[in-house]
Amino acid sequence: MYNPYQIVNNIYYVGVNDRHKMFFENMIPLPNGVSYNSYLIVDEKVVLIDTVDTAFCEQFLRQIKEILGNRVVDYVVVDHMEPDHSASLLALIREYPEIQIVGNVKTISMITGFYDICKGFYEVGDGDTLSIGQHQLQFYLTPMVHWPEVMMTYDVTDKILFSADAFGCFGTLDGAVVDAKLQSLDKYWHEMYRYYANIVGKYGSAVQQAFKKLATLSIETIASTHGPIWTSNRLPQVMSVYDKLSRYEGEKGVVVVYGSMYGHTEEMAETVARGIVENGIPVVLHDVSKSHSADILADIFKYKGLIIGSPTYCNGLYPEIASLINKLEVRGVKNRIFGAFGSFTWAGTSVKNLNLFAEKMGWELIGTVEQKQSLSLENSKSLLELCNSMSLSIK
Ligand code: FEO
Repeated sequence: MYNPYQIVNNIYYVGVNDRHKMFFENMIPLPNGVSYNSYLIVDEKVVLIDTVDTAFCEQFLRQIKEILGNRVVDYVVVDHMEPDHSASLLALIREYPEIQIVGNVKTISMITGFYDICKGFYEVGDGDTLSIGQHQLQFYLTPMVHWPEVMMTYDVTDKILFSADAFGCFGTLDGAVVDAKLQSLDKYWHEMYRYYANIVGKYGSAVQQAFKKLATLSIETIASTHGPIWTSNRLPQVMSVYDKLSRYEGEKGVVVVYGSMYGHTEEMAETVARGIVENGIPVVLHDVSKSHSADILADIFKYKGLIIGSPTYCNGLYPEIASLINKLEVRGVKNRIFGAFGSFTWAGTSVKNLNLFAEKMGWELIGTVEQKQSLSLENSKSLLELCNSMSLSIK
């Protein structure tokens, strides 16, 4: 039984919770699930903002029908074409054959490519408006916040920004959809870092461009495609998290990530973690073989300092560390203060490789320690010196 959730007068939430999917994009664990958000504006014309993942299509259409009865949906605005938001389009068209699909030129080309839909488009450009009765919708192109066709829809009447992926987070909406009605927001703040780092992380400059474009709008509510609907009390925090992350501005703290086969690099990692904490700086320690890269990336986006430890493996980096640094490189993470350590048995290359990586990323390198076989007293001291330098830079 569906109990329609009215956000404000005549605007309804018609999204769904996905509690089944194990991995978002088949890669990123979803311990708290995810919501696919969609919104229905019932005015002289009926407008749907985005759709949901195809697995929930039936439930989605039922929810819409429960609100509309015999009325039809006149427009569907496609703010974002990624299939978790667009894959119910074909079923929606079957249900409402006269529906107009609102999108920009890139959206329309993708819709044709993905779904072989060739007609029924209502093309909009940057700043265009669509009047649907009491409500006036304004469209802002915000390419690469996460895909090139992404746009945002601003409801001038109720000052709601339908923001596509921007300001979104993982986590199902349990019992309510608006921030003020949810019992606790703790999981969403944490999931916002995981979501940003893994999904939007590469596109920091696009997010900053979007901030500039939206700066003059009076926004009272943000309704994104994932996670809670954010209202006025929470907007400064939500905007601030996205602003800092997209400027790659880290908080005071150090992430120590290591790989280790027999415990020698791990002993170095433990020494480093202790040394940093003794300097009064928060530390997050990850064994790359145990922590999922999605969580490690979230912490690296969150904190300013990063120290990576790797044994030499097959004359190169420990494979899991190599995979992690590839993910960092892909996302173009900027402005990190970096240190490296590693151990080897007969020929060391891991620390050299980590140095090259830091150089490529343009990061500040504050020191390295390389150990042959077991950790020596001398190198323990060198690790503590590295910690002191890192702590000074962080402070
Ligand atoms: Fe939830 Fe970029 O899509």
